[in-house]
Amino acid sequence: MIISKNCKLEKLKQRQYEHTNIGKAYRFLFSIANIIESMPYRCPQVLEFGVADGISTSVFADVLEKKNGKLISVDPVNCSDVISGEFTKRSWKFLRTYDYDTKTIFNSVERKSFDLIYVDSFSDYKTSYNHMTNVFVTWMPYLVRNGFMVIHGVDSHPYLSGGRKEDKKKEMMYDNVRRAIFDFYYKNENIYDLEMCLGSVGMAFLRKL
Ligand SMILES: C[S@@+](CC[C@H](N)C(=O)[O-])C[C@H]1O[C@@H](n2cnc3c(N)ncnc32)[C@H](O)[C@@H]1O
Repeated sequence: MIISKNCKLEKLKQRQYEHTNIGKAYRFLFSIANIIESMPYRCPQVLEFGVADGISTSVFADVLEKKNGKLISVDPVNCSDVISGEFTKRSWKFLRTYDYDTKTIFNSVERKSFDLIYVDSFSDYKTSYNHMTNVFVTWMPYLVRNGFMVIHGVDSHPYLSGGRKEDKKKEMMYDNVRRAIFDFYYKNENIYDLEMCLGSVGMAFLRKL
């Protein structure tokens, strides 16, 4: 059983049915859990960039425990206590580093391929386009066929002027992330499928064919 420091998984599971923005955000997370759950093999390996309070970490750990999988979570801030329990001892690695630190990440895994990569590590509108592009260049070669890269934060609508969370810098940050995804996708249309969910701050699902 996963013990989460900052959330109650059962509550999140219930709240995903709320007709609210937070309900939508949780639905997006649980749709990733469903993807992991439906992988037609056991022991999937998931790489996560951006841990903070460990909400996504908790959701992924919960499903990976059932699938006998592994989770590697990366954040430059110490988030090593956001989850605990049996799974964390055997199958979770928290790495206090950055998503571009391939050396540390590869030194910590048994196999250099990932079934799902989750990206929630953007922090600045000035760097978010290059940040996203670098994640693609660095990590897409290590995504398995039929694997997913899921990107959190692709819908700038809530941040528009007059919107419910008006914030020019965040609007630009999410616009830049979305632009980087489109640029990558249209250069590689034959290799990936792209689906985007809007609302809350949106989520993009890239599947490697
Ligand atoms: C929005 S929060 C992540 C939220 C988390 N996924 C959750 O569900 O609770 C973004 C996190 O990304 C981290 N971060 C910033 N730059 C990063 C980078 N280059 N690589 C990995 N993590 C980074 C920040 O320290 C921050 O904790």
